[in-house]
Amino acid sequence: MAAQPRHIFAWRLLVFAAALTPIGWWSYHVAVGAAGPEPGRYLLLNLGQGALVLLLCTLSLTPLTKLTRWKGFSVIRRQLGLWTFSYASLHLLSYLLFILGLNWTALGEDLQKRPYIIVGALALLILLALAVTSNRYAMRKLGKRWKSLHKWVYAALCLVLLHFLWVVRADLAEWSGYAAVGLGLMLLRLPAVAQRLPRFGGRPKRARA
Ligand code: HEM
Repeated sequence: MAAQPRHIFAWRLLVFAAALTPIGWWSYHVAVGAAGPEPGRYLLLNLGQGALVLLLCTLSLTPLTKLTRWKGFSVIRRQLGLWTFSYASLHLLSYLLFILGLNWTALGEDLQKRPYIIVGALALLILLALAVTSNRYAMRKLGKRWKSLHKWVYAALCLVLLHFLWVVRADLAEWSGYAAVGLGLMLLRLPAVAQRLPRFGGRPKRARA
């Protein structure tokens, strides 16, 4: 396997530390009793928002690669995508543990009362499919189908935004901010818009994963 340039390794380390820090911070809050009256719900909501922020960051890396021509962004994209999936899985785990208390009868009732959970679960299933096929082996095996499969990330984003909208309902201020960024990133992927993007950074810069 080709050696990894040092700056790519440094970027990876930075992304690792940046993605892990909020989890440490929220756990610390829970441990010292600073997470409010419902620490389980505190973790659930923060992990949900964290997963959405990471999903938007992941999606912003393709336009950034096009703008700057720095291929290193595509190396970090896979790492951020895996963090998105990890946050979303921890979000599900905190729901099962702290909200349901692993009571499977309550799960059936909750799914009827709060259908947005099914929407969230569909988004998580897509993220799972993308996470397990994000390696080089799957890329080789799937060939051209890999790109089509990974376009499903936009379906996941729409489902997550719907899931979030259903939770917040009337309080749209925060949701609108996330939705605007998501919409902007989707527009940037349209060929008509992507072709008009300015290119900085002269020669394409290569970086190996
Ligand atoms: C099986 C999968 C999922 C389940 C069971 C689930 C469950 C929940 C629940 C119960 C809430 C509302 C908490 C409340 O207000 O009481 C919630 C909120 C939320 N979830 Fe999920 N979710 C799932 C998947 C996802 C995924 C995949 C994402 C993002 C990638 C996500 C992002 C969010 C966000 C942003 C909120 C709102 C947080 C806030 O109001 O601050 N969820 N989820």
